Amino acid sequence: MLGQNDLPAFAYLRHQCRQALTRFANAGSLHDDMIVLQVAQFGKEGHTVDSPVDCCGLCPEYAGMSYLVLARKYRPQKFEDLLGQEHVARTLTNAISMGRVHHAFLFTGARGIGKTSAARILAKALCCAQGPTATPCGTCAICQSISSGQSVDVQEIDGASNTGVDDVRTLREGVRYLPAEARKKVYIIDEVHMLSTSAFNALLKTLEEPPEHVVFIFATTEVHKIPATIMSRCQRYDFKLLPSKVLAEHLTRILASEKIACEPDAVRLVAREAAGSVRDGLSLLDQVVAYVGQETLTREKVAEVLGVADRRLLFQLADQVVARDVAATLRLVADAVDRGVDLMQMARAFLGFLHDLEIVTAVPDADDLIDATAEESAETKVLAGKAGKGLATSLFDRWARAVEDAARSQTPRLLLEMALVDLCNAEPLLPLGDLLDRLEKLEGRLGSSGASPARAVAPESRPRGIPPARPSARAVVPARAPAVASVPAAPQALSPDTDVGEVWRRVRESFGHRPAVAAALDHAEVSGWEGGAVTLQFSQKFALDQTAKFKPEVERALSQITGTATRVDLKMASGKVLPLLRSEVGREAEAAQLDQHQRETEAREHPMIRKAQELFGVAPKEIKTP
Ligand SMILES: Nc1ncnc2c1ncn2[C@@H]1O[C@H](COP(=O)(O)OP(=O)(O)OP(=O)(O)O)[C@@H](O)[C@H]1O
Ligand SMILES: [Mg+2]
Ligand SMILES: [Zn+2]
Repeated sequence: MLGQNDLPAFAYLRHQCRQALTRFANAGSLHDDMIVLQVAQFGKEGHTVDSPVDCCGLCPEYAGMSYLVLARKYRPQKFEDLLGQEHVARTLTNAISMGRVHHAFLFTGARGIGKTSAARILAKALCCAQGPTATPCGTCAICQSISSGQSVDVQEIDGASNTGVDDVRTLREGVRYLPAEARKKVYIIDEVHMLSTSAFNALLKTLEEPPEHVVFIFATTEVHKIPATIMSRCQRYDFKLLPSKVLAEHLTRILASEKIACEPDAVRLVAREAAGSVRDGLSLLDQVVAYVGQETLTREKVAEVLGVADRRLLFQLADQVVARDVAATLRLVADAVDRGVDLMQMARAFLGFLHDLEIVTAVPDADDLIDATAEESAETKVLAGKAGKGLATSLFDRWARAVEDAARSQTPRLLLEMALVDLCNAEPLLPLGDLLDRLEKLEGRLGSSGASPARAVAPESRPRGIPPARPSARAVVPARAPAVASVPAAPQALSPDTDVGEVWRRVRESFGHRPAVAAALDHAEVSGWEGGAVTLQFSQKFALDQTAKFKPEVERALSQITGTATRVDLKMASGKVLPLLRSEVGREAEAAQLDQHQRETEAREHPMIRKAQELFGVAPKEIKTP
């Protein structure tokens, strides 16, 4: 029975036979090995025997044919074939032609960008029968045995499976012997960061002073795990991820030589998904080709096979967000998830799209700065126009946070959906300077048109960058609301034309020359007034204690003002008894709150702010008062 690892084989067959591989298309990821597919495995005459493949009968033509995954078929054989690593190729080429080749190299960088390929090319360059040369012939016996991985003098060691000190000892043994046929003995250790510390230590001495005929090439994706002692003995080369455009061009060339028809958009989507790794790009291509068979590669199909959000979806999403259509936005996401799009992938891709949107907004001619076709970038520009200044920034900001949170969350979908609702309601982030400039201009216009000039905004006295603290001056704030919160019906003890508030005000006034008493009384709430007894309650103990000191004086004042002998009881406020009269302190706080509210309302109503709202179509989000 064929396993998942045989997928590339199916990929090839599918390319020939439409029905054959449908069911395998999504079976799993591809690997980097050559698979020899004996079509006989499928049974005589290519008909189904032991496999779920419904073969169309084309199979006999391919009996005995081997299939090589694209990544292996298109392994660079010369320095000039190495895409995106020109800096490496150039330095190595120069070193070889000047005969100044180091004995230890460290190739670092992400996966699938040419480290192993470069190591093999370097080995060929050093060993080729025509060399040492920067342009190995590729045809001599030595070049060929290196290319096919069969050279006895060029050993590729997998660091991941030979991690121990014994492995390194064996290697050290071998190092002593002269090469069998080539000029040099080359040790290529892949994933070298996997070596154990003792293995690294065992390697140090040899690496320091290897025999003349030995060259080490280490490759790693995780350079930070390499001990400094090893690093300092090697010449380091950093391999770079490929720009999406370069990768797309490479994939297009390969598709052309494979005679597979494709839409440019489809290739670009694959390239974008590969995120700079050539091998990933080629593996994805294998997978997609396996799916579409002989049909043309379209953007929709690629998006479908890879389960990714294509730019169209991202564009639509942004379009609905800008239109503030929450329902449509959420539906787009739900549909995409139903189609099998990976939500986090989509979230990240959308972040990328918002990034493009922001760039297009900020830079008028941004075609070279974003990864999009001319058509897409024109479309994005129109959308940026719709969004208006400042919105893209705000959307990007919010979405970036949402993506980060979702990545850590157990329920990313909920988070992302809520974040989309939030995006639909997002207000543009305008630079303060811009806003001030516009307000100032507006002020000028309003002033000259005879509208009431704004008194609060005084640009000449306000430092730039600081918003006017209050859009309106205090003077225009209407008189404060009456400070007495709740005035009960006048108690019997008082004459009908007075009330608690009035009596209490006069009591306090009578202590105008005694600030200590007045201050204590400011904290008193009148909570009872009955039959010649007044209850004062306090929320702070110190105020109660203070008032207690002056209790006889307060009683005296009260008796005088009401004309009745009046007793005063003091207690702490329990929160149960509502005061008849709020304390002065409490009233001030309340009044301040009221005042703040009034000032806010007023600010919103202010002609200048309203005009600004009309002009920019935005609403003040928050009004700060000092
Ligand atoms: N710079 C490149 N130019 C052209 N093709 C490349 C490049 N890098 C990688 N490839 C393609 O990807 C395949 C794998 O590349 P290679 O083995 O050199 O990558 P690597 O950097 O060693 O990856 P890893 O870190 O996973 O070992 C190659 O056979 C080739 O098809
Ligand atoms: Mg490698
Ligand atoms: Zn050669």
